[in-house]
Amino acid sequence: MDLETLREKALSCQGCPLRRHARQVVFGEGNPRADLMLVGEGPGAQEDEAGRPFVGPAGQLLDRILAAAGLQRAELYITNIVKCRPPGNRQPLPAEVQACRPILEAQIKLIQPRIIVCLGAVAMRALIAPGASITRLRGQWITRDGIRYLLTFHPAALLRDASKKRPVWEDFKSLRQVYRSEQVEQLSMEFPDKYLGGVNRGSAGLTRLGPR
Ligand code: URA
Repeated sequence: MDLETLREKALSCQGCPLRRHARQVVFGEGNPRADLMLVGEGPGAQEDEAGRPFVGPAGQLLDRILAAAGLQRAELYITNIVKCRPPGNRQPLPAEVQACRPILEAQIKLIQPRIIVCLGAVAMRALIAPGASITRLRGQWITRDGIRYLLTFHPAALLRDASKKRPVWEDFKSLRQVYRSEQVEQLSMEFPDKYLGGVNRGSAGLTRLGPR
């Protein structure tokens, strides 16, 4: 299956009651070959209206954080744990997260990101640490199935509590470093050996820029 077929499947999903209340399914958007995927919680009112993730106030703040970290939204892929807006912007219920999980898992399989940023507790709990506290775990990098996960606060939390801005900025600085080093590493593996006169042997000799 390709991403477009998966999108069509998601658009016609009736797997949980959220679809009945939502205007549209917000599948996700961005670079289908992104090395970096951002995962939020679920669409809000503006996203439900636009059919696009992170376009409301939290999305605009996210855009500013990304720009400050030198990351272009177009190079990433952005999606949510649930693809339909929970009524009144409540958190998605565990059964709704479970119903939507196969779509996200298929997105991850198709896009094959090297890094996934969990934006907030709902994403962190669904993908990495059920029941954990984002306040305790934010800033952590966790590797699972060859993918490096960064846990950080949801941008909406920063709108409610400005003291979270500094730690999130630290997280995005760390993200930039790890993401750029992944790109250098990938380039070194893709760059044909003959142009490097045999010096390109895996990542040996390359300085890792980011923490492991
Ligand atoms: N909050 C989210 O978690 N996702 C969006 O797309 C918008 C707001």
